[in-house]
Amino acid sequence: MCGIVGYIGTQAATGILLAGLEKLEYRGYDSAGIATVLEGNIHCVRAKGKLHNLREKLEQIENPAQVGIGHTRWATHGKPEEYNAHPHMDTARRVAVVQNGIIENYRELREELKQLGHEFRSDTDTEVIPHLIAQLLAEYSSSPNQHSSPFLEAVRQAVNKLEGAFAIAIICADYPDELIIARQQAPLAIGLGQGEFFCASDAPALVPHTRAVLTLESGELARLTPLGVEVYTFAGDRLKKHPRTLNWNPVLVEKQGFKHFMLKEIYEQPGVVRACLEAYLNTDWNPASPGQMPIRLGLPAELYADLEQIQIVACGTSWHAGLVGKYLLEQLAGIPTMVQYASEFRYAPSPLTPNTLMIGVTQSGETADTLAALTMEKERRDGLLPKFQPRLLGITNRLESSLAQMVPHIIDTHAGIEIGVAATKTFVAQLMAFYCLALDIAYLRQTISPDRLEQIIIGLRQLPAEIEVVLEIQERYIQQLVHDFAETQDFIFLGRGINFPIALEGALKLKEISYIHAEGYPAGEMKHGPIALLDAKVPVVAIAMPGSVYEKVLSNAQEAKARDARLIGITPMNAPEAAEIFDDVIPVPSVEELLSPILSVIPLQLLAYHIAARRGLDVDQPRNLAKSVTVE
Ligand code: F6R
Repeated sequence: MCGIVGYIGTQAATGILLAGLEKLEYRGYDSAGIATVLEGNIHCVRAKGKLHNLREKLEQIENPAQVGIGHTRWATHGKPEEYNAHPHMDTARRVAVVQNGIIENYRELREELKQLGHEFRSDTDTEVIPHLIAQLLAEYSSSPNQHSSPFLEAVRQAVNKLEGAFAIAIICADYPDELIIARQQAPLAIGLGQGEFFCASDAPALVPHTRAVLTLESGELARLTPLGVEVYTFAGDRLKKHPRTLNWNPVLVEKQGFKHFMLKEIYEQPGVVRACLEAYLNTDWNPASPGQMPIRLGLPAELYADLEQIQIVACGTSWHAGLVGKYLLEQLAGIPTMVQYASEFRYAPSPLTPNTLMIGVTQSGETADTLAALTMEKERRDGLLPKFQPRLLGITNRLESSLAQMVPHIIDTHAGIEIGVAATKTFVAQLMAFYCLALDIAYLRQTISPDRLEQIIIGLRQLPAEIEVVLEIQERYIQQLVHDFAETQDFIFLGRGINFPIALEGALKLKEISYIHAEGYPAGEMKHGPIALLDAKVPVVAIAMPGSVYEKVLSNAQEAKARDARLIGITPMNAPEAAEIFDDVIPVPSVEELLSPILSVIPLQLLAYHIAARRGLDVDQPRNLAKSVTVE
C-alpha cells in the first residue's frame, strides 16, 4: 500500500528510482512522483495515474542528481490527483517527503503549522511532515545546541511528534549528501551497495542492485550518505545492525513470457506445492517407523501442548485459507477453531480462552489489521497465568516481513514473490501450510492413524501433477468459455464443506480483477435468500467434488438450473451424472474431498483471469487495490 524508494550514491538517481517504483507498482498505482536534489534545489516531478505517465514526463528532463526519493501511491487521504501525489514539500520547497502509511494526528499538526505560516497545497496527511521538518530545522538552526546532522535531528524530532503507522524517506536541498528514512510499523528496508545505498518498502526494488539488506525496525530511523548508513532509535541512540543476504533471484520478478504476472503465478502453483512438500514433509517417515515425525514445520512441542482452541486471524484471501485451515484443524486434529477477520477481531476480540494458539495468516506479512490483531492478543495475554499466555504463530510468504519479526514462530509458505495483486499461488501455499499443520497436530494428539496419515500424504504428493493436468486441459477450454460472459454482470459461486471457502475465493478473484459482482455462498444456503437473484443472466459456478456433500451440491445446482441460471460445474473427471446437470463442466482429477480445494481453486483462478483479460482489464493492477495493505 504505497511504495517508497530512495537512492543516494554516484549514479543518476532518477532512472534507479523509476525502476524501483516499477517493481513496487503493485503496492499502489493512483499516482507517482520523484524528487531529487540538484544544484541546491529540489526537483520534483509528479503525475496522476500509472507510472508510465511519470516516466513520460521525466523523459523530457535531463537530471544527473545523485540523491532522490520516489513514491507510487494508493490514495488514503485525498483524491488521486497530481496535487495529492507524493513527494510533498514544505512551503519553501527545501524538504521533500514520501510516505507509506497514515499520520493519524495530521489535523492537529496541520493547524499548528498553518498558524506558524506554513502553506499547504494538498489534501494529504503526508504534507504535514515536510512542513514539520522545515519548522524544526528552522528552530534548530537558531538554537545554540548544534548536532552533527541538523537534518537527521530535525527528522528525529519530527517522527516523535507523528502518530500512526508510517514509513518515510526525506531529502533536503540544504543537505544534498543525506537521505533520511524512518519507520513506525510500515515496512522499510535499506539496500547496501558499493558507495551507493537504496531504500524501499519491499525487497523487489532492491534485488536488482544488491542482495545485502538491512531491515529497519519499527521505531528506527537511518541516515544514508554516500559514505555509509547510520541507524538510530527514535530516542536518538545509535544502533549496530547487521545486514542479511537475500536469497532472491531477480528473474522471479519478471513475467518470463507470460502476458501477466497473475497467469505466470497460476502456472507456478505445481512448483509451489512441490516446494512446500519438500520443506514440510519428512521423507524418512512411514507408518512402520513411528520414531520419526511425519511433518517438520520446525515448531516446538510447547506450542501444541494441551491445546484447547485455535484462533485464526487474517484478511481477504488469507482469511479464506484460514477457513480451509479451520476445516482441517477441526476434522483432522479435533481442535475447535475460530476464524476471524483481523479488522473485526481488533475491536471485538473473543473472550480469552486457555491454551489457545493464535495464528496470523498474511502472505505479505505486512497487513496492518492482521499485525494489530496479533499485537493486541499478545498484549492482552501477557502476564496472565501460563495457560492463558500468548502462543503466536504466523503463516507468511515473506520471512523478512513485520509479521516474522513480531511472532516467535513462523511457517514459511515458500511460494516465491507474488507480484499480481490478486493472490493465487500464495493462497495455495497457505493451504499447504494448513494441511501440514493440521496433520502435525493430529499426529501428536493421535487423532489420526498412521495409515490414514500416510494416505493423505500420498494424496498431497500427487497434487503437483494433478494441478498440471488442470492447467494443461482446462486453460484453453476456459479461455473459450469466457466469450459467453462478455456482458455478464453478476456471478454466484457455490461450494459446501471444505469447498465453501473456495467458492468465496472464486468470487473474490472475479470481483477483484474483472469488476463483476460475484457472491460466494454455501450451496445449501442459496435457497434461504440468494436464489432470488437467479435468472438466465446470472451464471452459477458450483464446486461439486466427490465426498460427503457431492450429491447435496448437485441437488443445490439443480435448484439453480430450475431458475434458468447457466450452470458451470467444477466436477471430478468421468462423472456423467454431473455432465448431465451442468451446462458447462470443468473437470479436475478426482481426489479425496479433503484435498480437493487445491484442485478446485485452479479453474476458478483461470476463469477470473480470462474474463478480466478478455475485457482488456489491468489484471495485475486492478483498480483501487494494493498488494500490501499497510493501513487500517
Ligand atoms: C486477494 C488479495 C487480498 C489479500 C488481503 C490480505 O486476492 O490479495 O484480499 O489476501 O489483502 O493480504 P495478506 O495476505 O498480505 O495479509
